[in-house]
Amino acid sequence: MGAFNEKRSVNLRVWHWLSAIAVFGLMLTYILRKTVLNYKTNAEIIQVKLSEIGVLVADDKAKEIAKIFRDNMWQWHYYLGFFFIGLLAFRLYAFATKKDKFPSCKAKEAPSREFAAVKYAHAFFYVAALYMAFSGLAMYYREALGISKESLSLVKELHELAFWFFAVFIVAHIAGVVKAEVSSDKGLISEMFNGGDEK
Ligand code: HEM
Ligand code: HEM
Repeated sequence: MGAFNEKRSVNLRVWHWLSAIAVFGLMLTYILRKTVLNYKTNAEIIQVKLSEIGVLVADDKAKEIAKIFRDNMWQWHYYLGFFFIGLLAFRLYAFATKKDKFPSCKAKEAPSREFAAVKYAHAFFYVAALYMAFSGLAMYYREALGISKESLSLVKELHELAFWFFAVFIVAHIAGVVKAEVSSDKGLISEMFNGGDEK
């Protein structure tokens, strides 16, 4: 058995796969917003295509129409965002009631520096996820809370920048897990489904 093989609670396993779906989904909404549903590109397409049949649309109107398509898709950022907040609360409850150990506690009992680094990266994931949850909520309820758009500009920039943390985390995470699976920690990935055995 490798250093990463261990028994995994049902809580952790269900949480892990639902969170993976939520985080992938949240990132996908942003990728769609910046690519196929980019309102500037789509406004141009609307203008060009309508001009072919003799309909002229002003820049503002074309952008307004394109934003409707983008915003309909962006609703999914909020559905998945609230779903992810629920998952996070569930996980923090498991840590608070000591049903599961917070990764930085495992890092302290680390058999190697690599093991400690992985567990600290997981701990940092939870910190970043908490920031996304609070900043997302602040932006979502900004008007109801009577906060001006300008006073949340830094919060929004950091929320957007954190996208890149999640992108790097996921690539490194999957590469690391696959590397461990094929070398030192056989069965690690199936453990995340079947729960694994006691050490
Ligand atoms: C968006 C995608 C994903 C996210 C956000 C994510 C997040 C996490 C987090 C935070 C942990 C640490 C849990 C803890 O100990 O508290 C973890 C562990 C783990 N994940 Fe993922 N994960 C993702 C995708 C995947 C995929 C695709 C696989 C399989 C190929 C995978 C396999 C594992 C395994 C085997 C562990 C246990 C590793 C260990 O004990 O150090 N994950 N994941
Ligand atoms: C891993 C988690 C998340 C990622 C990667 C992520 C990513 C992003 C990105 C990149 C933006 C900037 C979009 C832009 O203006 O171009 C954004 C905006 C936003 N996100 Fe998230 N987000 C996450 C979680 C959440 C959560 C949990 C909520 C809570 C509901 C949330 C609510 C919002 C809101 C309200 C905006 C501002 C939208 C606007 O100004 O039109 N996000 N998110």
